Parts: sequence; C-alpha cells; structure tokens
Amino acid sequence: MEIRSIERGDVPAVVALASDVIGPERAGPFVRSHVERHHLLVAEEAGAVVGCLAYRTDWFQCTFVALVSVTERSRRLGVARALYRCVEDFSPSPRLYSSTEETNAASIRMHAALGFSPSGYIDNLPQGYRELLFYKRLRP
Ligand SMILES: CC(C)(COP(=O)(O)OP(=O)(O)OC[C@H]1O[C@@H](n2cnc3c(N)ncnc32)[C@H](O)[C@@H]1OP(=O)(O)O)[C@@H](O)C(=O)NCCC(=O)NCCS
Repeated sequence: MEIRSIERGDVPAVVALASDVIGPERAGPFVRSHVERHHLLVAEEAGAVVGCLAYRTDWFQCTFVALVSVTERSRRLGVARALYRCVEDFSPSPRLYSSTEETNAASIRMHAALGFSPSGYIDNLPQGYRELLFYKRLRP
C-alpha cells in the first residue's frame, strides 16, 4: 500500500469515498477545496484508491483531520492507521485533532486504537448528532 497526495485521476474515487461519509452534495466541493490546499492524502493498493484522509492545518493553529474514509473491502487492514501516520508526519503543529459522530462506534474505537484521547464535543450541528473531538499530542 502506498500513501501519497491526491492526483487529478484520483478525484472521482475520492469523491465517492467522501460521499459515503458526508453525502454526495457536499462531497464534490469538500474534495475540491482540500485538493486546492494540498491537504488530501490517498491510500493506493494494486492501482486502486482504497482510502482517503482530508485535513487542514489552520484549525485553532492545530492540524485537524476533517474526513477519513476507507472502502468497505479494505477495512481492518491498517489503511486508516497508515493515513493517520502520514498526516502525523506532515503536521506542522504537534497538536493533532480529529472527530467523529457519537453514533460511529467503529471510528470511536479507531481513534482510541490510534492513540487519541477524548477532547470535548460539538453540539447543535445540522447532522443532528453530537460530534466527538479527539486529540493526540505528536511531539513535545
Ligand atoms: C473508521 C474507518 C476509517 C477505519 O478504517 P480502517 O482502515 O478499517 O482502520 P484500520 O484498519 O487502520 O484500524 C486501526 C484500528 O482501529 C480499530 N478499528 C478500526 N475499525 C474498527 C471497527 N469496525 N471495530 C472496532 N475497532 C476498529 C482497531 O483497533 C484497528 O486495529 P486492528 O484492526 O489491528 O484491531 C473505516 O471503518 C471507515 O471508512 N468507516 C466509514 C467512514 C467513517 O466512519 N469515517 C470516520 C469519520 S470521518
């Protein structure tokens, strides 16, 4: 598996992965804005995109993972773990944040497994569920 920055030909596959999480209407604009800022990583396996991770580095002066998505067939194979490892290497800040809906048990378990700690939550979002925040200190 290779983790690399998104390339033009990856966009349809990444929009499909993002659609699974944020819906088809938001996925296109979301992916385009992260491509423009070079903040979108993809995981490639045997010539196919099997996962993606979008992040920003201007979130309260910290790095924030805005979205991670792995194709169903490639889950539990360490794809998300590899994507997070890469953003940890790229992060200009030693403070890495990530989040997930309170109903997403797999993602909550993943954050714990990857060494994140709970760091508050956001209510009153249009999604209707509480968004849980997670934090990981990358270096002193
Ligand atoms: C959550 C998600 C990104 C995890 O991706 P993944 O590539 O399967 O995760 P990994 O294989 O790297 O898992 C790393 C660790 O997280 C934990 N984990 C991941 N998925 C889990 C699950 N379904 N149940 C329990 N633990 C899980 C495990 O401890 C795992 O390590 P292990 O397999 O050695 O036990 C994936 O399930 C997904 O794309 N879900 C739909 C989109 C989504 O919910 N995104 C998150 C919110 S933006």
